[in-house]
Amino acid sequence: MDLLIPDKVHDESRQGEALILEPVGKNNGRKLYIESYGCAMNFSDSEIVASILAEKGFETTSDFNNADVVFINTCSIRENAEVRVRNRLKEFAGAKFRNPGMVVGVLGCMAERLKAKFLEEEKLVDVVVGPDAYRDLPNLIDQVDSGQRAVNVLLSREETYADISPVRLNSNGINAFVSIMRGCDNMCSFCVVPFTRGRERSRDAHSVVAECKDLFDKGYREVTLLGQNVDSYKWSRPHPALSEGDGSEEDAGNKVSPAGGDFEGAAAVVNFANLLEMVALVSPELRVRFSTSHPKDITDEVLHTIAKYDNICNYIHLPVQSGNSRILDIMNRTYDREWYMNRIDAIRRIIPGCAVSTDVITGFCTETEEEHNDTVTMMDYVKYDFAYMFKYSERPGTLAAKRYADDIPEEVKQRRLAQIVAKQQEYSFYRMQARIGKVEKVLIEGFSKKSDKDYCGRSDQNAMVIFPVSEDYKPGQYVNVLVERTTSATLIGKIV
Ligand code: SAH
Ligand code: SF4
Ligand code: F3S
Repeated sequence: MDLLIPDKVHDESRQGEALILEPVGKNNGRKLYIESYGCAMNFSDSEIVASILAEKGFETTSDFNNADVVFINTCSIRENAEVRVRNRLKEFAGAKFRNPGMVVGVLGCMAERLKAKFLEEEKLVDVVVGPDAYRDLPNLIDQVDSGQRAVNVLLSREETYADISPVRLNSNGINAFVSIMRGCDNMCSFCVVPFTRGRERSRDAHSVVAECKDLFDKGYREVTLLGQNVDSYKWSRPHPALSEGDGSEEDAGNKVSPAGGDFEGAAAVVNFANLLEMVALVSPELRVRFSTSHPKDITDEVLHTIAKYDNICNYIHLPVQSGNSRILDIMNRTYDREWYMNRIDAIRRIIPGCAVSTDVITGFCTETEEEHNDTVTMMDYVKYDFAYMFKYSERPGTLAAKRYADDIPEEVKQRRLAQIVAKQQEYSFYRMQARIGKVEKVLIEGFSKKSDKDYCGRSDQNAMVIFPVSEDYKPGQYVNVLVERTTSATLIGKIV
């Protein structure tokens, strides 16, 4: 069992969700069905895909039986993520049988990992497209229409889809994901992402800020900046001679300002702290979240920026993976236990009250009982607000698969996972209990899942808060909620 305490970015309950929108181009009479698995980046990519196809006149549908094009945006992170996709493909077979003209496409990380092999293994599939090749989708669909099966899994060093303004799918009009970078250069030994997503590249800071501003103008009140390792975001304004300007001195002087948003005056290189600040300055009414932070890269400068702006949420997802230095070393995480604790201490010092969540892998190759215990004591040290906990799943082609035997028996992985999960439940409950009697600033996201007499929204620290609807407030507004009681995952209270 993978245990997940859902939040917006890692919400497993959204897995497989079909995404809906209206066509923006001239309707071509064809319907697209797209569903997504995996991380927030994949959901964000599906919006880019829908945007590219909406330009070509595709309308989306929530029923794959009615679709002319069925896409599944896939994840390879653990074996069970891939099994889930294979099973889902079987469910599309009936629809394809009834409608032989239906185009079935596999997108995303599994497409990238398996490439053309997918076409051999899954006869149903017509098109296989990796995460950097979505601009090619209209051509690939044309190819399939003319009777060929099509593959494009080229990875790019440049593609960031910066110019594509994603259509928002299944949106509540309040929260949106904004990708700020793609790929990953870290090569954690267990991880398939560097192979499926390619080299790390940062998106043009101007386009990030412009997208956030546009979202704010459309009524959105929260953006989550996405990257596999946001702390290594680094964007340099292209050399004037290479940009569209004439390279004149005036042009060269027009530098990016981290603080301004008008991009004048200051540094020409934008790091993550600078970008956070630029987005925070879009409006004090726009909440800013981000994921994922890497313990090796999160700087005090980033922490000070979070502390400086009220609208940058006090919540950091800082995956530890293991609490043991030897395991961290063979995981190639490039930090050790002491370094991680030092980063936690810095968070506590610079942003008192900041919520921290984590990812943990149990039963990594060669992990002893004592080493596992170091993860348990790390949890005691940090008392995480949330955690996403997984059993190690060997992924073909990764460094760990090549170097180390997957030698921890399944039942041992399971027992260690259960121990970690139980520990986390204790601390989630502890963190929730500590909020009772406190007033939380909540951004109303809509009605609660269970009842339209209650609103739901999240606190600054990312806790879900439920409270009775008041006629005076609408979704998209901020309210102060006094917390009266909690479950293990939700705060319950009333507007004050
Ligand atoms: N970029 C993020 C993680 C992305 S993957 C980071 O560096 O933290 C999300 C989580 O999946 C990881 O943090 C890790 O805990 C888990 N994961 C990745 N590969 C895994 C594997 N082979 N087996 C089990 N869990 C894995
Ligand atoms: Fe994977 Fe490590 Fe990159 Fe995260 S930082 S995506 S775990 S390689
Ligand atoms: Fe999965 Fe790819 Fe994201 S492997 S977790 S969808 S980057």
